[in-house]
Amino acid sequence: MKVLGIESSCDETGVALYDTERGLRGHCVHSQIDLHAAYGGVVPELASRDHIRRLPLLVRETLAAADCRLDELDAVAYTAGPGLAGALLVGAGVAESLGMALDVPALPIHHLEGHLLSPLLAADAPAFPFIALLVSGGHTQLMQVRGVGEYELLGESLDDAAGEAFDKTAKLLGLGYPGGPQLARLAETGQAGRFRLPRPMLNSADLDFSFSGLKTAVLNVVSAPGWQADATADLAADFQQAVVEVLVKKSLAALRRTGLQRLVVAGGVGANRQLRAQLDEAARRRGWRVYYPEPELCTDNGAMIAFAGALRLAAGQRADSAGEIRIRPRWPLAELQKPV
Ligand code: KG4
Ligand code: ZN
Repeated sequence: MKVLGIESSCDETGVALYDTERGLRGHCVHSQIDLHAAYGGVVPELASRDHIRRLPLLVRETLAAADCRLDELDAVAYTAGPGLAGALLVGAGVAESLGMALDVPALPIHHLEGHLLSPLLAADAPAFPFIALLVSGGHTQLMQVRGVGEYELLGESLDDAAGEAFDKTAKLLGLGYPGGPQLARLAETGQAGRFRLPRPMLNSADLDFSFSGLKTAVLNVVSAPGWQADATADLAADFQQAVVEVLVKKSLAALRRTGLQRLVVAGGVGANRQLRAQLDEAARRRGWRVYYPEPELCTDNGAMIAFAGALRLAAGQRADSAGEIRIRPRWPLAELQKPV
């Protein structure tokens, strides 16, 4: 089965072709970073317009790279939420129209399901069940994953998501957009331990997170008299270390609590090198394993959407939208069901 995947929930336009027999055959992403950089963040209306401009070209490019004709497709999967409403509508509109024109199912996919299943695309894929740590710009969640569509929320951020905290802190440190990767890069050149930043909810008995206080603590440091900008790299390192410490401790607690030994890390913050190093080290000591998506599939892409669509299709899911364009800008992952 050949499934075309379309991702347009935020500031990346992604298209990919996943073939259940031959794997990932084509995969194109267009990032809108340059478009939004001047504004210091994503401008939703500009994002939607750019998705409209890019999607038809990317579909053509992906099919050409995969050496596949439109009429060979068995389904079109698209991100139906969560995300920016206007941006989601573009992908949903294209996917549902293609589905109708080709008379194949159009499958609405949850963006985070795409992220959390994406490590299964790697050569060394984890088996179910596992714990998923989802760390993106909009979400920080620990889920227990028993199979496709069987997700139980164990804990989540009560305020800012980890990626959001990285982005906002980067902004107040005067770094450009996108802030997360820039802050991480700067942190590599600094020395952590100088500023005693808090570790929010590190010792709470639950598996929830809170990151907005950490951002405020950074703001307090840079607004204090005597602050010197040459300490920015050290402050960045301290901030990164505080976030990583909390993410590692809660992920280990989730594994311990459920008795599982496999942890899957997905979402943009999963690209963070410190997070990876410290999770790997902590897991190694206990004989547990941590799985990540291929580096290019950590941030938003169409491959994870095509793949989630293919898994759902294979498990018997049918499209029931009748060409109706449905999006869910807010859509809790735990509401998803097993394919029927
Ligand atoms: O999953 P993603 O591409 O988009 C969402 O669905 O949100 O994640 C983007 C988030 C942004 O907040 C970005 O700053 C963060 O992931 N991010 C990072 C790194 N790379 C991306 N945060 C920390 N360290 C990184 N290396
Ligand atoms: Zn994402």
